[in-house]
Amino acid sequence: MNKVLCMAFGVSALFSPSIIMAETVHVSTPKTSLVLEATNGDPLKFVYYGNALTAVDMESLKAAGIPNFNAYPVYGLWPEKEAAMSAVHADGNMTLDMAVSGVKTRKDADGSEVTTVTMTDRVYPLTIDVNYRTFPGEDVIETWTETTHNEKGDVTLNRFMSGYLPVRRSDVHVSQFYGSWANEGKLEEAPLPHGVKMIKNKDGVRNSHTSHGEVMISLDGKGRENEGRVIGAALCYGGNYKLMFDTDDSDYHHFFAGINEENSAYHLKKGETFATPPLALTYSEEGLGGASRNFHKWGRDYRLAHGNTPRKILLNSWEGVYFDINEEGMKQMMTDIADMGGELFVMDDGWFGVKYPRNNDSTSLGDWTVDTNKLPNGIKGLCDAAKERGIKFGIWIEPEMTNSASELYEEHPEYVIKAPKRDAIEGRGGTQLVLDLANPKVQDFVFNVVDTLMTKYPEIDYIKWDANAPIMNHGSQYLTADNQSHLYIDYHKGFTAAVERIREKYPDVTIQACASGGGRANWGVLPYFDEFWVSDNTDALQRIYMQWGTSYFFPAIAMASHISASPNHQTNRIVPLKFRTDVAMSGRLGMEIQPKDMTAEEKEQTRKAIEDYKLVRDVVQLGDLYRLLSPYDGKGAASLMYVAPDKNDAVYYWWKTEQFVNQQLPRVKMAGLDPDKTYVVTELNRVDNEPLPYEGKAFTGRFLMSNGLEMPLSHNVDWNKRNDYASRVLRLTAK
Ligand code: GLA
Repeated sequence: MNKVLCMAFGVSALFSPSIIMAETVHVSTPKTSLVLEATNGDPLKFVYYGNALTAVDMESLKAAGIPNFNAYPVYGLWPEKEAAMSAVHADGNMTLDMAVSGVKTRKDADGSEVTTVTMTDRVYPLTIDVNYRTFPGEDVIETWTETTHNEKGDVTLNRFMSGYLPVRRSDVHVSQFYGSWANEGKLEEAPLPHGVKMIKNKDGVRNSHTSHGEVMISLDGKGRENEGRVIGAALCYGGNYKLMFDTDDSDYHHFFAGINEENSAYHLKKGETFATPPLALTYSEEGLGGASRNFHKWGRDYRLAHGNTPRKILLNSWEGVYFDINEEGMKQMMTDIADMGGELFVMDDGWFGVKYPRNNDSTSLGDWTVDTNKLPNGIKGLCDAAKERGIKFGIWIEPEMTNSASELYEEHPEYVIKAPKRDAIEGRGGTQLVLDLANPKVQDFVFNVVDTLMTKYPEIDYIKWDANAPIMNHGSQYLTADNQSHLYIDYHKGFTAAVERIREKYPDVTIQACASGGGRANWGVLPYFDEFWVSDNTDALQRIYMQWGTSYFFPAIAMASHISASPNHQTNRIVPLKFRTDVAMSGRLGMEIQPKDMTAEEKEQTRKAIEDYKLVRDVVQLGDLYRLLSPYDGKGAASLMYVAPDKNDAVYYWWKTEQFVNQQLPRVKMAGLDPDKTYVVTELNRVDNEPLPYEGKAFTGRFLMSNGLEMPLSHNVDWNKRNDYASRVLRLTAK
C-alpha cells in the first residue's frame, strides 16, 4: 500500500489525487519503505529506502540523519554532479530546474498502485512525473519517469534515466552478470570503487549476452545468501541500457539506471510524452537469496507471461537435426518425446522458404512459408501428427530479421536497418539484416508473421521467437534525417507495439524469448514471453554456472534448460546422462537431442526422470529458491533447493563441479524449510544400485538446516557405468 503522509511526519492519511501540498511520500510494501520529501515548490528529496518503517520510526526518521540528495537529479544548475536527466530546451537553454508541483496516486487494473510526484520546471513549461508502482503482497517497487513539455519547438533529451538511488557510503559490494554468447549469466561480485562503475549494453536488439541490466547491491560488504541487507535492481527494458554507480567526493554511492543515451538523443515534440522503462527495486534483509526470491515472486505474479502456470516438458529439434528438417524426422522425434513422457515438440529453424529454401543460415528469413519439399503435409500435417501422439506442437520463427537472399528483402529493401549511402553490413550467414521496427509497416509485418501462423494453425501451442543479430549499420530508412538518433529507442517501441498486439490476440500461446541463446533475459521483454533460452550452450557443467547467475533475478519457470547429447555440441565434454538430466531438472526441463541416437536404456532412464520431474515440477517452477553452495566459490560442488510456499514439499539439488581423487567436499546445510516440520527424503532420478542411507528416512527441517545430509562423492553403479561425475536430486516431503 502507498501512503502519502501529509504535511508532517507521522500524520498518516490515505492520499487522494487532489492532495497537492503533500510533504512526505511513503511508498510501502509489506517489508520495505521508500520515503521521499515532496514539498510543493522545492526539489523532490530522497529520504529513505530500506526495511519497512513504523509510524514511530517515520516520526523520528529525519532526526536519525538522512542524505541530502534529490530523488531524481537533473542536469544544469549543479553541473558537476551526475544527473538522471539532461535536456536542451527549445530555445537552447541546457539547464533544468525542477520543483514539486503535485502528488497523486492511482490504482491500475492489475491491482498495483502508482504514486506520481509531478515536478515542473521553475521557468519552462516542462514537467517530469516521477512514478513509483507497488503491487499487493510484493516487495518490489518499480520507478520510472514521464517527461512532457509545451515549449515552442522540440526539447532534446540527452539523458533519460529511469531512476536514481543514493545507496549509502562505505563497503558496498555489487554482484553483476557478464559473459558472451554460449557463456551467459556469469556472476562477478566486487566492492564499489571510488569514481564510476558502469555496466552497459549497445547491441540494439538483445541485451543480456554480455552484461545484464540487473545488479545486486550488498550493503554490508560481501553478499551473503540468506542474511545481510541487499538492494536488487533490474532495469526492465529490452534495448540498450546503462547502469552506473558514481562514488563521488561525498563517498556516497549514487546509482543510476536507464536507457543508454549514447547516440540516442531524443527530440521530444510539444505535447508528446517520453516515458522511461521501469527500474524494479527490491530490498531484503535476507541477503542475496531474499532479494532473488522477491524478484521471482513479483515476476511470476505480475510480469512473466503465465508466470504461475507450470510449463510443458518439451523436445526442441535444433541440436537433434539442426537444419535437416523433414516430415519423417519430425514425426519420429514426436513419437520419441511422447514415449518418454514429454508434452510438447518444437520444430526449430529450417522449415520455411520457397524461392530460397532455408537449408542453412544464409537465406530465407522473412519468407515464413512452409517448404513443402521438406514437409509435404505442411504445418497442418505436423499439428495432426502431434495430436495423434497426445502432445502439443510448437514452431521456431525469427520475425525481426531477414536475409538479403530472401523474397521479403527483394520486395521490401526499405524494411531493413541501413545507413543512407552505405552498403549494409550483413550478419549471421553473411546475409542477415535487421528489420526496422521503427517503421509501422515493419511492425505490421512482424505481427502478421505470428498472426498468419496462428490463424492457419490454431493448434500451435508454443513459439520459439529468436533474434540472432545486433543492430548493425546505424540508420533507419523510415525515420527522418534529423531523427536518426531515435533508432535504438524507436526499435524497441516498435518491438513492444508488435508483441503487445500479438499478446492481445493470442494471450494463451507460450512464447520463448531466444536471442542467439540468452540474449533476451530481461524483465522488459518477459511480460510478453513465458520463458527464455538461457544459452545456446547446453553443456551441463557450464550450465550450472550460467543458471546460477541467471537465478539471481529470474525464476526457474522462465529458464529453459535442456538435456542434450554427449559429447556436448558446444564444449565436446562427455557428461553422463544422469548429470545432464539433474542439471536440466533444476529449471524448466526440456530436451535438445536426437532421441533416435539414444539407447533404449537411456530412453528408459529419461522416461523415469521425466516422471520424477513431474512430481516436483510445481515446487521447482513455483517454489522459493534457496542457493546453498555456489559453484563460483570453487568448493568442488554446487547446491540449491526449491521449497513450496507452504513448506510441505522441497527439492534439493547437488552437483559435483570438480573431479579430484579424495577431494573432500563440504557438507551442505539446507535452507528455507520449516524447522518444526518433519521431512521424508526420496531420491529422484536415481541410478545407484543401492538406495542412499537416508532414503525413506525422516528428518526435521531444523536438523536439515543445521546439518544437511552427506552426499556420496560417486555413484554406486556397475563398473562399466562408472564415471567421474556425481549429482543428486532429493525430494523432501513433509509428513
Ligand atoms: C539461434 C538459437 C538456437 C537455434 C538457432 C537456429 O542460435 O539460439 O537455439 O534456434 O538460432 O538457427
